[in-house]
Amino acid sequence: MRKRIVAGNWKMNKTADEAKSLLSEVINMIKDEVTGNVDVVLCPPALYLTTARQYITPGSNISLGAQNCHEKASGAYTGEISAPMLQSIGVAYVILGHSERRQYFGETNAQLAEKVDIVLANGLKPIFCCGESRDLRENGDYVAFVKKQITESLFHLTAEAFANVVIAYEPIWAIGTGLTASSAQAQDMHFELRQHIADQYGDSVAQDTTILYGGSANEKNAAELFAQPDVDGGLIGGASLKSREFTNVIKARQ
Ligand code: 13P
Repeated sequence: MRKRIVAGNWKMNKTADEAKSLLSEVINMIKDEVTGNVDVVLCPPALYLTTARQYITPGSNISLGAQNCHEKASGAYTGEISAPMLQSIGVAYVILGHSERRQYFGETNAQLAEKVDIVLANGLKPIFCCGESRDLRENGDYVAFVKKQITESLFHLTAEAFANVVIAYEPIWAIGTGLTASSAQAQDMHFELRQHIADQYGDSVAQDTTILYGGSANEKNAAELFAQPDVDGGLIGGASLKSREFTNVIKARQ
């Protein structure tokens, strides 16, 4: 059975003290309340990853993710963080291609293909984000657009490498807006993406691929989203900043 994952993307939020409080609260709640088959990935700002590691019991169902990394292994790239650095501090996942990175930092499908490669080469798992704008959803072929994001950044991989990729479908119009995709809209797109993966790698790889939904997912709508057959979990923004709510989202997936 494919992995069920709930990942919390804190984005650029929390001071150091606030981060410690949230980490300790959320990790204690997960230990006490989450018993089922779900992996939790905490993605705080990179600055707090080493702190976060101290809160996590090795071998538990909680692991760490970064929100981005550079496509080169090292070098003169002031301000950037590399995949080998993340690997060296015990990070397991890296969010790549978040729509905010594409929109504000100009990340392209081709550049993301390079990031995917370096992340995998260092034994990390990409959480590869894709999703369409509101304009495309209303006026364009949004399914073809999202499939192209996946084709251009991921389909150069061998099936063996692709097995380490997690997909996150995050419609841009649903991110931070309170406008969640309906469970039917999420299911339709996840089904299309799984079919797209099957066309490239075969049915068994597609059936094993974890596809997360992201975009205004919260404790109220999570259970219905996660009940869809192709929605394997969530990439949670705002609701991951509150320990009680994030734990409730995780419990909706277990
Ligand atoms: P929100 O849950 O705040 O809408 O953010 C979703 C997201 O972008 C997670 O990466």
